[in-house]
Amino acid sequence: MAQSNDIGIDLGTSNVVIYMKGHGIVFREPTVVAVDRDTRRIIAFGMEAYRMIGRAPSNIAIIRPLAQGNMIDFDLTNAMLRYDIAHVIGKRFFARPRAIMAVPAGIKDIEKKALISAMFDAGIRRTQLLDKNIAAALGAQLNFLGAYGSMIVDMSAGGSDIAVLYNGAVSVMSSIRVGGDHFDDAIVRYLRKKYNLLIGERTAEQVKIAIGGAMQRDPSVTMDVTGRNLLSGLPKTMSINSDEIYEALIENINDLIEGIQVIIERTPPQLASDIFEGGVTLTGGAAGLYGLAEAIGDVLKIPCRVAPEAKDCVVLGCARVLNEPAEMRFLLNRA
Ligand SMILES: Nc1ncnc2c1ncn2[C@@H]1O[C@H](COP(=O)(O)OP(=O)(O)O)[C@@H](O)[C@H]1O
Ligand SMILES: [Mg+2]
Repeated sequence: MAQSNDIGIDLGTSNVVIYMKGHGIVFREPTVVAVDRDTRRIIAFGMEAYRMIGRAPSNIAIIRPLAQGNMIDFDLTNAMLRYDIAHVIGKRFFARPRAIMAVPAGIKDIEKKALISAMFDAGIRRTQLLDKNIAAALGAQLNFLGAYGSMIVDMSAGGSDIAVLYNGAVSVMSSIRVGGDHFDDAIVRYLRKKYNLLIGERTAEQVKIAIGGAMQRDPSVTMDVTGRNLLSGLPKTMSINSDEIYEALIENINDLIEGIQVIIERTPPQLASDIFEGGVTLTGGAAGLYGLAEAIGDVLKIPCRVAPEAKDCVVLGCARVLNEPAEMRFLLNRA
C-alpha cells in the first residue's frame, strides 16, 4: 500500500511545526526569514535566520512574516512555506501529499486563498483549513465534540486566543495581545528602566524561560544577564533576580487573566458552569511560563492546567484530523 505522507501544519507566529502521517513531528523551525534590505534577496530561513537575530549586519533584516498572526508579507510567507515543505517532503514531491493547516480564526478569505495557493506552489495537492482554537483543543484532548463546554487558551508569541468550544464548534472567542513576545518586551523595558541595561530580544526570551514567572519563585533564583549599559555604552553583566522578572511581567499576567475573565462573563451560563467544572486548559509555547496555570487558577477560582505537550497541541490537533478522518472531517473548513 502506498505511504500517504499527508501532513498537518501549525503556521505559528514564532514557530512552524509540521507533522507527517506515520512519522510524527518531522519539522520545527522559527517563523523567520533573513532578507537583504537593498536587494530584497532572501538570505536564510528558519533556524539559520533565527540565529542571526541581534547579530546580523545592518543590511540584513530579520523578518517574522506572520508577526501578529496576521498575514504581513505574502511573498515571504510563500517563500518560507516552500522551504519548510521542501524540507519535509523532499524527494517525495511526486506524491503531492495533502495537508491540514491550522489558521487563526479571524483570517480573511483572501488570506485563506493565498495560503492554500502558497501550499500548492510548495508541493501540496490539497490543503484544508482547521480553526486554530479547534486544533489546539483536539491536541489537548479536550472534550468538546459533544454537548459539553470547554475553554482553551492558546498562547503564542504574538498573542493569545481564548475560546469556549461546544458541540465541535467555537461558541465564544477573543484574541488578546498578550503573548510570549509581550513578556520578552516587558523584560527588556524593565531592565532598561531600572538599570539602564539594554538587552536583546533573544536574551530577554532566555531570561523569561530561565527565571521568569507568573508566580514568585520560592526560593528566588538569579541569573547573570549581559547587555549594554546605556550610560557608558559598554557591555555589562548583572545578576538579576526572579522576583524582579516577576515584577516586570505582572502587568501582562493581569491583562491575560482579565481577558480570560471577560470571555467567561460573555459565555452562556450553562457553558460557563461546564467551564467552572472542567477548568481552563492552556496550550502553546508561551503557556510554559513558570506558575502561569497556578496564577490564573488562584485569581479566577477555577481549575487551570497546562496541556501535556502544550507547544505541539495545535499540530497534534491537525494530526488527529488526518488520522481519524471519518470522525473529524466535519471540523474542517469551518475556519
Ligand atoms: N518554557 C517556556 N517558558 C515561557 N515561554 C516559553 C517557553 N518555551 C517557549 N516559550 C515562548 O513561547 C512562544 C512561542 O510559542 P509557539 O506556540 O511556538 O508560538 P507561535 O504559535 O507564535 O508560533 C515564544 O514567545 C517563546 O518564548
Ligand atoms: Mg502556537
